[in-house]
Amino acid sequence: MEIDQDKLMDFLHKFVGDLGATMAAGNVLVGERLGLYRVLAEQPMLPHELAERTGTATRYVDEWLRGQAAGGYVEYDPQTGAYSLTPEQAFALTDPDGAVYAPGAFELALGALQSEQKVTHAFRTGAGVGWHEHDEGVFSGCERFFRPGYAANLVANWLPALDDAEAKLRAGANVADIGCGEGELLGRLVELGFGELMGVGWTVDVPVGISKMEEVDLSQHGWADQIGGQKFDVLVATEVLEHLVNPYEFLIQLRRLAAPGGRLILTFPNVHNWRSIVGYAVGGRFSGFFGPNWNNNHPLYDQHIFVPNHHLVRYFLRLAGFEIVSIDFLYGRGKLFGTTAMFDCRAIEKP
Ligand SMILES: C[S@@+](CC[C@H](N)C(=O)[O-])C[C@H]1O[C@@H](n2cnc3c(N)ncnc32)[C@H](O)[C@@H]1O
Repeated sequence: MEIDQDKLMDFLHKFVGDLGATMAAGNVLVGERLGLYRVLAEQPMLPHELAERTGTATRYVDEWLRGQAAGGYVEYDPQTGAYSLTPEQAFALTDPDGAVYAPGAFELALGALQSEQKVTHAFRTGAGVGWHEHDEGVFSGCERFFRPGYAANLVANWLPALDDAEAKLRAGANVADIGCGEGELLGRLVELGFGELMGVGWTVDVPVGISKMEEVDLSQHGWADQIGGQKFDVLVATEVLEHLVNPYEFLIQLRRLAAPGGRLILTFPNVHNWRSIVGYAVGGRFSGFFGPNWNNNHPLYDQHIFVPNHHLVRYFLRLAGFEIVSIDFLYGRGKLFGTTAMFDCRAIEKP
């Protein structure tokens, strides 16, 4: 086999770049956890000054700073020997509430790498690797990386897009987040001082001060009985519908929980976007559904099992007793590019 030296060098450059990025990924978390970025953002510093301010060892901080400067994560001034952060680096590395929080993404990536052996094994057996089997870093990283998106958009864009939902919330409406998981959305609403809040689901991990109802199987007939007759002005079910074996029953139960005229905010993967349509046309499956890890021995909660065709969701909503106020698409423009569909609905008398 003949080797083209130029192509080989191109490939090796790429590989060395990838290897450097992978090896250095942990250093971003080191910088975050020890407060190195946060303190360095205040002013340019020499290594021993940064070490003193953060209670760390100069020898380590010195090497860390060199690596960070080589990787473009901090700036180095050869005249003074001082290191600093540009406003852009500080924005992405020190503000957990900013639009992009890079350390969260690195925690997610490093957590995902911990599953390498399980994934390799799954290639041999054909069995799945469940979302719940990931390292804790995946969950915490996900939450920290996506939280700023919720924080930046919830009040600025999403709530105003929902007709009178914000006014209702500000007037003290009670809200239930159904299938809330870690309760990110509820946490944000609490911080903003919104009404009475409840998280419902199988596993529920909501911030202190929010009531919760755990071990509710949202696929079961009559699960709303477990909530004890309470009615809600706003029901939220984000990225849950596609996990359920019985989505119609789910909507019927949501309707039972809705106060008169109550709102339902429903989001789910938009299977009508172009990527999904092409995936179906070419490979016979919608993007995000029945992927390589699909395994029917796997806990259902972790799988996307209901393909939410919009016509069907509309039909189910109407039969369950909801009218659609508006439909929006998130993370991309319109139905063709948005990856998530958001249906804003209002409870009505059943037809
Ligand atoms: C993709 S997560 C979405 C979590 C949250 N709503 C969000 O947007 O961040 C799907 C959630 O649905 C829950 N879930 C799926 N199937 C369920 C079932 N049958 N009963 C109860 N919860 C279920 C999972 O436990 C998980 O919390």
